[in-house]
Amino acid sequence: MRYDADMAVPFLDLSRVNSPQWADYRAAFDRVMTESQFIMGTDVEAFEREFAAWVGVTHAVGMSSGTDALLATLMAYGIGPGDDVLVPTLTFFATAGTVARLGARPIFVDVDPSTMLIDIDQALERRTANTRAIISVHLFGQCVPLDPLQDTTLFIIEDAAQAHGATNSHGVMVGAQGHAACFSFFPTKPLGGFGDGGMVTTNDDDFADRLRLMRVHGARPKFHHLHVGGNFRLDTLQAALLRHKLPTVDAQADARRAIAARYRDALSVLEGRGTWRWVGRTPGRHVFHQLCGLASARDELRAYLKTLGIGTGVYYPEPLHTQPCFESLEQGLGHCPNAEKACNELVALPCFAGLTDSEIDEVANAIISFYL
Ligand SMILES: Cc1ncc(COP(=O)(O)O)c(C=O)c1O
Repeated sequence: MRYDADMAVPFLDLSRVNSPQWADYRAAFDRVMTESQFIMGTDVEAFEREFAAWVGVTHAVGMSSGTDALLATLMAYGIGPGDDVLVPTLTFFATAGTVARLGARPIFVDVDPSTMLIDIDQALERRTANTRAIISVHLFGQCVPLDPLQDTTLFIIEDAAQAHGATNSHGVMVGAQGHAACFSFFPTKPLGGFGDGGMVTTNDDDFADRLRLMRVHGARPKFHHLHVGGNFRLDTLQAALLRHKLPTVDAQADARRAIAARYRDALSVLEGRGTWRWVGRTPGRHVFHQLCGLASARDELRAYLKTLGIGTGVYYPEPLHTQPCFESLEQGLGHCPNAEKACNELVALPCFAGLTDSEIDEVANAIISFYL
């Protein structure tokens, strides 16, 4: 996948990200073809073990996507009609969509205007008598500090879809901080696969067992259904390929951190002018799934960069609480003002392993020439 393939500086070029390991991926593909074990089997089990060890948890359960990881987690916890679940409004749709699909109510929470992460204090204030869980999203690759939640009875779900390898200020990996954590292997993610895939991590033996049951239509033994689950299995082929990619994730995050640092230096001339502000950082290791700033005249800036052949992204153009499908929840405009404002200003710059120094400088100089 090459976003803005016609651009001189693409927003994202996955062929550059993945090409150093192409030979390994081809060998893994060949091996799975030869073995012809396409559903579950040793590659899925081995990848689950390797991923759990990397995150520092006892269980990792492969899933068909990040969305299904969230859905299966909520199902395994028994979330349903009458339950409320706290979610940030600035996130990908799946964070709230999965809650609504189960008949529960998402309660939208605003973001911290500096980091764009869920405002945990407000989340605690917005709890109702029916609030059973919170999904905290480690947005853009930075870790939400979850310490204030530890004394609550809330079931803490980390949405770690964008933050493989990030840590909190104590050095604990995302995925090892809540009761369960949901990862996506969508191709653009920090551990991106070659199609859809996902994972749930947990230290809870019983919960891991329920997840494993949920992903096979709740059947144990086969054809005997204890629960209504779904087909949430991670493909064997994805697992085989991702086993080769996992050892490269930390180095790729290092590369994105170096890119972010170069942009920061280059754009420091804009500091204090009120036109460009970086999205703030929380303590801990940030893996820069997205490198985002808040830009005045954002849409004009993007159009200008486009004329120069520079691709950018917007995450997200609209918060979730104002989406038409959630109108009946009556949490519309004004419910989360920080996110409403940010959605007009957020812009993501090209930031991927393989981006060259001269490309970074080209983007930075173009932004400077727009504002100065
Ligand atoms: C924060 C967040 N949650 C959930 C998802 C859903 O993951 P997937 O696309 O693998 O279903 C994504 C990715 O798109 C995401 O960014």
